Amino acid sequence: MTLKVAIVGVGNIGNIHLGVYQKNPACQIVAVCDIIKERADKAAAQCSCPGFYSVKEMLVSGIQIEAASMCTAGVENGGDHYTPTMELLSAGIPVLGEKPISNNLQQAEEMVTLAHGKNLRYGVNLNHRFTPAALRAKEWVTAGRLGEINIINMTMWINNPNETSPWFHIRALHPHSLDVMRYFGGDVEKVQAFFKRGPRQDGPHGQRVCWSNVQVNLLFKNGIIGHLTGSYDAGGSYGLETLEVVGSEARFVLLDACEHLRFYPRFSQEVESYDYLGGMMSFGETFNSRIARWVEQNVAKDSPEQIDASGEDALKVQRIIEATIKSWETGTVVTLS
Ligand SMILES: NC(=O)c1ccc[n+]([C@@H]2O[C@H](COP(=O)([O-])OP(=O)(O)OC[C@H]3O[C@@H](n4cnc5c(N)ncnc54)[C@H](O)[C@@H]3O)[C@@H](O)[C@H]2O)c1
Repeated sequence: MTLKVAIVGVGNIGNIHLGVYQKNPACQIVAVCDIIKERADKAAAQCSCPGFYSVKEMLVSGIQIEAASMCTAGVENGGDHYTPTMELLSAGIPVLGEKPISNNLQQAEEMVTLAHGKNLRYGVNLNHRFTPAALRAKEWVTAGRLGEINIINMTMWINNPNETSPWFHIRALHPHSLDVMRYFGGDVEKVQAFFKRGPRQDGPHGQRVCWSNVQVNLLFKNGIIGHLTGSYDAGGSYGLETLEVVGSEARFVLLDACEHLRFYPRFSQEVESYDYLGGMMSFGETFNSRIARWVEQNVAKDSPEQIDASGEDALKVQRIIEATIKSWETGTVVTLS
C-alpha cells in the first residue's frame, strides 16, 4: 500500500520534495497546493494530480491525504509555516515541515502542542543528520567507542547575502547545526552567544544588516560543553560544515555532513577513515534520505514519539536559537527551562 502524500508550497524546496516523492515507490503524490496558481498548476501537471490554491480548498476536496510536506517559507524562511501547518494538523494529517519550524517561538509551540494533542506524526526536515556517516558516528557513540563525550564543536557556514532580517542567519541556517549537535549531545541547558555583522560597502555604517557571524557556547544538560561557529560570510573552499565530537576514549570528525568521517583513538595512531559512506556524495542527497525515513515511519505507522527529527526536536532547537539572541542582547548566559 502506498502512502498518499500532498505537498504544500511548491517553490524551490517543495519541488525538491516533489522529485523525491516521485522516485519513491512507497508513496504517491495525490495533491499539490500553492497560493501562486502557476506553481500549483505546473506541479499538478507534473504529478498528474489535482492542484489547489489553498490548504482549505484542498481539505474540502475530500481527497484522502495520509501525510503532507509543508514547504512554505516567509519571514526568516519560517514565517509562513504556521497557518497551513495548523490547518493540516487540525484536519488530522501528519506533517513534515521545513526548517525552521517557525521564526516565532510561540507559533512553533502551538504547532507542536496541536500535533501532540491530536497524536499526529510531526517531523521537520532537519536533513543534515540523515546521512550514513552521521548514523555510523552515532553507532560509535552508542557502543561507547568514544567513552564519555566531553566536547562537541560544530562549524556551519555558507555565503549568503540575505539582508531581510537581522536574525536571518541564526534563525534560518542554524536549526541544522544545532540539531546535529543535539543529535549527539542531547538537550541543552545554558547558552551564551556573541554576534558580529560582516562588512558590506553599501550597508549602514559599512556593515551588513544581518548578524552574519556567530560564536555560541553551549552547556548540555548532561554536562557536555559545546561550541558553534556560524557564518553567512564564509563558504566556497571552506566547505559547508565540520562536526567534531570529543570523548574520553576517542574523537570523530565529520566533514560536510556525509563526505568524510574520521575516527581518532585517543591512545593510538590507528585512525579510521571513511569517505562517502553508503555512497552518499553530497549534502543535496540528504533530502532523499530524510524524506525516505519520513515515508518509512508513516508507512510503518510509527508513533509520533518515534519520529526522527520531530517537531519537538525542531522546537527545542528554536528555543536554543532564541536563547542565543537573548544572550547577545542582554550580555548574559541564558538558561533554558
Ligand atoms: N532543509 C533544507 O536543507 C532547506 C534548504 C533550503 C531551504 N529550506 C526551507 O524550505 C522552505 C521553502 O523555501 P523555498 O526556497 O522553497 O521558498 P519559496 O519561496 O521558493 O517557496 C515557498 C512556496 O510556498 C508558497 N506558499 C506560501 N504560503 C502558502 C500557503 N499558505 N499555502 C500554499 N502555498 C504557500 C509560496 O507561494 C511559494 O511558492 C523554507 O522554510 C526554507 O527555510 C530548507
